[in-house]
Amino acid sequence: MAEKSGTPAAAAQEQQQQQSQFLSSFIAEIVRSPVNLALVGVIAILVYKIVKSRTRTEEPVQEVKKLPKLRRDFAIEDLTKYDGKGPDGRILVAVNGSVYDVTRGAKFYGPGGPYEAFGGRDASRALAKFAVDAATDKYDDLSDLNTTEMNSIKEWEEQFKERYDYVGKLLKPGEAPTNYSDEEDEGSQQETETKSESNDAEKKTDHSDTTEKSKSD
Ligand code: HEM
Repeated sequence: MAEKSGTPAAAAQEQQQQQSQFLSSFIAEIVRSPVNLALVGVIAILVYKIVKSRTRTEEPVQEVKKLPKLRRDFAIEDLTKYDGKGPDGRILVAVNGSVYDVTRGAKFYGPGGPYEAFGGRDASRALAKFAVDAATDKYDDLSDLNTTEMNSIKEWEEQFKERYDYVGKLLKPGEAPTNYSDEEDEGSQQETETKSESNDAEKKTDHSDTTEKSKSD
């Protein structure tokens, strides 16, 4: 027996038909007009962006610490405090008798970084030998290194000079620190120090002789 129109089943079928007719005419309307198509595209992008921004997990923002500039000389044993594990996270590295503030490069020299062993130490020997674990927390006069190794240190130092702030000298044992309190211009002071060191013939070893010469060049 066929179902007559007017029964609940026929009504539901009719409603379904109407719905699909509406949907297809709606789609046809959109497809027909490029303006509508563009609007649909814009809406889709907006919806995607909203959904994405809600589901995005908060990435930890690496805090860039802005510390006051340091200007002083360091004995190697005072340098060890600045390995990035202190309360302010400052990291100092000595290269070729000069101390640099490498806090900005904490991803390299800070805890867990590939060159963590340089933090708060003299990295000269490590850079000369290309062996990270040769960085030292003891005074190292580097007098046993050959010319190639010393040149390598100087090249590395140039990179440190370009990237990081110069802090002061790495003091030899018993050497008195310079008082920088009246200093205005950091760069010129570094020059002055270098020049006065070059004139200090007494304390020189053979290799530091060449070092100082190239520094003042
Ligand atoms: C397999 C061995 C090594 C690889 C693949 C490697 C890779 C790198 C890379 C890719 C950078 C540049 C990172 C950047 O600028 O984003 C870098 C920087 C550096 N590397 Fe190495 N390295 C290696 C060994 C060494 C060794 C043995 C030393 C020293 C003993 C060293 C010292 C440095 C230093 C001082 C920097 C500069 C970091 C700065 O910008 O302050 N590397 N290394």
